[in-house]
Amino acid sequence: MTLAVCPGSFDPLTEGHLDIVRRARSMFDEVVVAVAHNQGKRYLFGAEERVALAEHAVAGVPGVRVQLVPGLLASFCAELGATAIVKGLRGGADFDGEHPMALMNRHLTGIETAFVVGDPALAHVASSMAKDVARHGGDLTGLVPPPVADALRSAFTQPAGEQS
Ligand code: PNS
Repeated sequence: MTLAVCPGSFDPLTEGHLDIVRRARSMFDEVVVAVAHNQGKRYLFGAEERVALAEHAVAGVPGVRVQLVPGLLASFCAELGATAIVKGLRGGADFDGEHPMALMNRHLTGIETAFVVGDPALAHVASSMAKDVARHGGDLTGLVPPPVADALRSAFTQPAGEQS
């Protein structure tokens, strides 16, 4: 049984993330969408909400589940007995960010990272830009799954001063 871990902040999960999860699932028996904490980021959604939105998006997809990463990703992968970490690349800038993380994760436990090139039609899709589109009332169709679009719209229709 092979198991891939697809980690990320998922703040929130986008159609680009789903594309990578589906590609990972086509190569591995099981996929865990691993919602982790990036200390360099300030989040719009709390961890439990990011998990819930990801769960909603992958509900009913066989062999795919969502888990919260409580600490180090490499330790989480070791506890699960993961075969590999799978990350998506939209372009060279993504690789520049991912390369040191792949090296660190392998240093920590020996876990390998496999990179998958995403659908070029989704190369512009990023959580940060989806949030920006939502903040300004733009159309989220094709950027994020419908429940995520609803959550983004609600997050940005809170009274001024309460937005993250
Ligand atoms: O979507 P992101 O923010 O680029 O994902 C980065 C993430 C959350 C996968 C990374 O920051 C991470 O693995 N965090 C968990 C803590 C950890 O293991 N840190 C060392 C990773 S090199």
